[in-house]
Order: sequence, then C-alpha cells, then structure tokens
Amino acid sequence: MSRKMKNKVLQRLKIERIASEGKCVGHHDGKVVFVSNVAPGDLVDVRVTKGRSSFMEAEAIKIHEYSDNRVSPFCEHFGTCGGCKWQHISYELQMTYKRQQVVDQFQRIAKVPLPEVMPIIGAKDTRYYRNKLDFTFSNNRWLTREEIDSGENFERNALGFHVPKRFDKIVDINHCYLQGGISNEVRNELRTFALKENLTFYDIINQTGLLRNLIIRSTLDGQTMVIVQFGEDDPAGIDKTMGFLKERFPEITSLLYIVNLKKNETFLDLDVHTYAGKDFIEESMEGLKFKIRPKSFYQTNSLQAYRLYQVAREFAGLTGNETVYDLYTGTGTIANFVAANAKQVIGIEYVSPAIEDARENALHNQLSNTLFYAGDMKDVLTEDFVSQHQRPDVVITDPPRAGMHEDVIQMLLKLSAPKIVYVSCNPATQARDVALLSEKYQVNRIQPVDMFPQTYHVENVVLLDLKEQ
Ligand SMILES: C[S@@+](CC[C@H](N)C(=O)[O-])C[C@H]1O[C@@H](n2cnc3c(N)ncnc32)[C@H](O)[C@@H]1O
Repeated sequence: MSRKMKNKVLQRLKIERIASEGKCVGHHDGKVVFVSNVAPGDLVDVRVTKGRSSFMEAEAIKIHEYSDNRVSPFCEHFGTCGGCKWQHISYELQMTYKRQQVVDQFQRIAKVPLPEVMPIIGAKDTRYYRNKLDFTFSNNRWLTREEIDSGENFERNALGFHVPKRFDKIVDINHCYLQGGISNEVRNELRTFALKENLTFYDIINQTGLLRNLIIRSTLDGQTMVIVQFGEDDPAGIDKTMGFLKERFPEITSLLYIVNLKKNETFLDLDVHTYAGKDFIEESMEGLKFKIRPKSFYQTNSLQAYRLYQVAREFAGLTGNETVYDLYTGTGTIANFVAANAKQVIGIEYVSPAIEDARENALHNQLSNTLFYAGDMKDVLTEDFVSQHQRPDVVITDPPRAGMHEDVIQMLLKLSAPKIVYVSCNPATQARDVALLSEKYQVNRIQPVDMFPQTYHVENVVLLDLKEQ
C-alpha cells in the first residue's frame, strides 16, 4: 500500500469503530482505513485521500447501508460547518465512544497497570452548552453545490463559522445550537442590519471591510458580553453598528469593540473599548465569582467545568493542610475552587494577563491563601522555586493539548508530591505523560468528563499516587 492508492475508490467498506480524533475505522486488505463523517456500522464506498504503508485516510462518497447507530442530525448546517460533527450519533453512543477513546489511548500509549476507566460524566445539556462563540464576517460566503449549479446570483456576505480547513470561506449561520440566550438573535439581527445599511463585510484576501468578527460570551445567569472587531477605523460605521446593538439588545451587559487593522483576528495585544455596560461578565460557581474579561480564558462549558473541577477536587482529597500546586492555572479557576480546602495554593501560568485575572479573582473571592506566578512552566517550576515555597502535597496539572514538557515531568518526578491530579483535554498526550510519570506513580483513578457534546472531544482526569518506595 502506498501513495499510489491516492484517489482510488474502495467499495463497500464496513465501518467498524471510532478511533482517536473522532475518525472512523474500517479495514481494506488488512490495512486500516480512517474515514471521517461516517458512523460505526455504515457500509460505504470511499475515496482514498492519503495512502501510507500502514494506513490510509479516505472520504465517504456513497453510503450503501446506514448504521443502526445513526440518528438524524438536528442542525441545518451539519456537514458544512465543522462545529458539531457527531450529531449523527446518539448521545449515549457518543459517551460510550468517548470513554472508549480514553481506554484505547491509555492501553496503547501509557502501557501501565490501570484501574477500570469510570463511565464518562455526561452533560445534562447536550445543546446550547457553550458560553462563548466566535463568528467571522466575510464577503466570501460558502455556496452549496445546488447554489453553484443553479447559476443564480446569491448574497455573498456572510456571518458565521469557517468551513473546515478553509480560511477564506464562511458558512452563513442561521441557527447555532451551541449557545443559548440571545446569541442567535444578536448574530442574525446584526447581519440583517449590516446588509440593510450596506456596511462592508471583511475581505480576508484584500484585508478590507468594516465588519470583521463577532464574539458572544454569556454566563449561566444570563449576562451577555458582545465584542465586535472592526477591520477599519471608521468612527461613523463603528458608532452605527454599536448603536444598533445597544438599542436593539438592552440585555447585553457588556458591549465592547476593537479596531483590528492587523492581519489576524487575535486581539490580546489590542485595546478593547467599552461602548456600553461593564467591561466584564461574572460567572458564579459554588458562591465563588469569576470575572471574565474580553481577553480572559474561561472554560467554555460552565456547567461541565463545574463537574470537572469537582472531580479534580475529589481526587485531590484535600483536608485543609495541604500545599497545592495548580499548574497551567489559566485564570486561576481551579486554584480558587480548591483554595478553601487547602492550606495554600500556588498557581503557575504562561499568560501574564491571565495571572492578573487569577489574582483579581482570588481577591474578589476573599481568598488569602493563593499565590500566582506567570511564566513558562519549565522555567518557573524549578528547584529554586520549590525551595522558596512549600513543597507540594498535591499537584493539579491541566496542560494544553500538547501535554507537559518533558522537563516539567522530570521536575514532577523529582518533587515526588504524594498525589498528582492530571486534567487533560487530550488523552493521547496525557497517556504519554502518565507513562513517564509511572516511574514513580501509579494510576489509581481515571474519570472522563464530557465537556463538548456532539463532538469527539473528551476531557479526562487521572489520579496518580506516589508508589511506596
Ligand atoms: C487547558 S488550559 C487550563 C485552564 C485552567 N486550568 C482552567 O480550567 O481554566 C491550559 C493553560 O496552560 C497555559 N499554558 C500553555 N503552555 C504553557 C507553558 N508552557 N507554561 C505555562 N502555562 C502554559 C495556557 O495559557 C492555558 O491557560
């Protein structure tokens, strides 16, 4: 099997199971074939998109038999928008597959003695669960095959999500099931207003156009932050847009805008202007308050984040006497969450503004036993750092998808804290890191949590206890 297989059609391939990253797996001539956007049990013809000696990747071109596992996708944008790719699989099965991904990754990569992986903690809300969405304005709307074939002229301005792997094409979103509250109304009415007023939508190729990006953030109790990014510094156009939002949606509690003349949409280095209301919204969790500013990170599923943090706290088994290190603390949410149960909590995080938020949140919640430090983990977490602070009794670590740097793992092995609670959004890198930590630690609990229904993503919490020496 080789690159020569590219574009070959494989007929009547049986889809057997789901592997990592949500790809489905079948076999052809004893070789693994990864296929996207199908379901286990489907019988399909596929076209090979990548041929390698040990595996192939392929796209489905004809479905002969639909799996009994399939359900009808509920969203009109399913298949074009990259958002909720598992809508065609029932939620019960999604949960089974997510747990199985954790089992597979740990067996395949960690290769250490394991306890049984707990059933995944599912979400009560499988729709409208996100507290943040990020839409793009574009003058290059994605047209369907039927629209192109009709030869008619269509409105090309759009406000929605990127078509997967296409930086220049936007699916015009009519209804998104990911965020509740006024999110759909704000997006749709702003688009209608902009079209009526002939405001220009962003042209990503030529880097022109007034309206560039729309972010909507919300809290469980109904506060809403709306941030509009403008691609031109046009005070009249900006005022027209923001004035419309202010008047039409008085329920927006934080109405903000940014003038972004850069090549990309990131705005951490730009000024955010308050047009109306406050410059933050505030989420609550067990009586704690977390200020969310436009640049702050906050877990995007608030209800499931609470479940995740409860698991982490339970695994930490705190009695009130412990020094806890919260590595990759972000805005210090976990640190704040466990502080009442610990002697002190030390949070470390790369992004300085996040550390400022973490400190502010601790102050706001009248917590006097937290300390936060900004810097790259491998540079901050050193022998010197540890000798200047208490040694940790418990380490909670929640790294990005790439997992922990090897120097950080070596440092954790040196520190030999009695417990490590490892939270991860990528069980593959987590399993890799656990294999390295197994030199001194044994895995005693594994608990997957579903933060993102209708997608293949899975969050996983692992409890590692120091082995008896
Ligand atoms: C998955 S988030 C953790 C968020 C946090 N625990 C929470 O629940 O809100 C990972 C965090 O690691 C930070 N990070 C990424 N690379 C880092 C590094 N090399 N050193 C320190 N922090 C890093 C990111 O900025 C991000 O805030």
